[in-house]
Amino acid sequence: MNGFLDCLTGGKNDEYYTPRYAVLPILRYLPKDAVIWCPFDTANSEFVLALREQGFKVVHSHLITGQDFYKYEPDYWDVIVSNPPFYGKAQIFERCLSFGKPFALLMSCLWLNESAPCRLFMEKDMQLLMFDKRVQYNDQRRAPFSSCYVCHEVLPKQVMFHNLQTERGISRMYGEMQEKRKELRI
Ligand SMILES: C[S@@+](CC[C@H](N)C(=O)[O-])C[C@H]1O[C@@H](n2cnc3c(N)ncnc32)[C@H](O)[C@@H]1O
Repeated sequence: MNGFLDCLTGGKNDEYYTPRYAVLPILRYLPKDAVIWCPFDTANSEFVLALREQGFKVVHSHLITGQDFYKYEPDYWDVIVSNPPFYGKAQIFERCLSFGKPFALLMSCLWLNESAPCRLFMEKDMQLLMFDKRVQYNDQRRAPFSSCYVCHEVLPKQVMFHNLQTERGISRMYGEMQEKRKELRI
């Protein structure tokens, strides 16, 4: 819980929740019988909700339930899918790669401008699913960056492009976290 409070109150910019329309494009590339681990997600995350609707088995975890991604791993899972926190991306990718299993992480394309992706994926397979429109998180209308899925052993091609069908509506996890803030008076 402290870690989650730190996220909400410590000035970190991690509380951006993914709208459903940005989850849908990755679903077709996931093996139907796979157990998907969403490690930065509550039951109201649009990742968890959309995956379950499509018949996937899902395990989810989050700091709010005391499951720190750096320390926690579910007993069984096949593929990681989520939008991770903004901070510590290199360490997050490092841990994902250390499992030796497929993953798809939605994130700012600006990360590709850093040296970490080159260092981490020098000997590993990086795949990108890129969008023709920007994903708008929370109740924002003008995200200052584009997002893409950075994947490992998920896509059939190294770089793919997708015509993003945007729609109105914000993540239900955003609503849940707003309620949590009210409860905690922060
Ligand atoms: C960018 S948000 C995305 C949330 C959700 N995955 C989505 O796409 O709507 C990242 C979330 O990860 C949580 N988080 C930050 N560090 C974490 C950690 N070490 N382990 C688990 N969750 C963490 C944050 O509190 C935040 O809610």
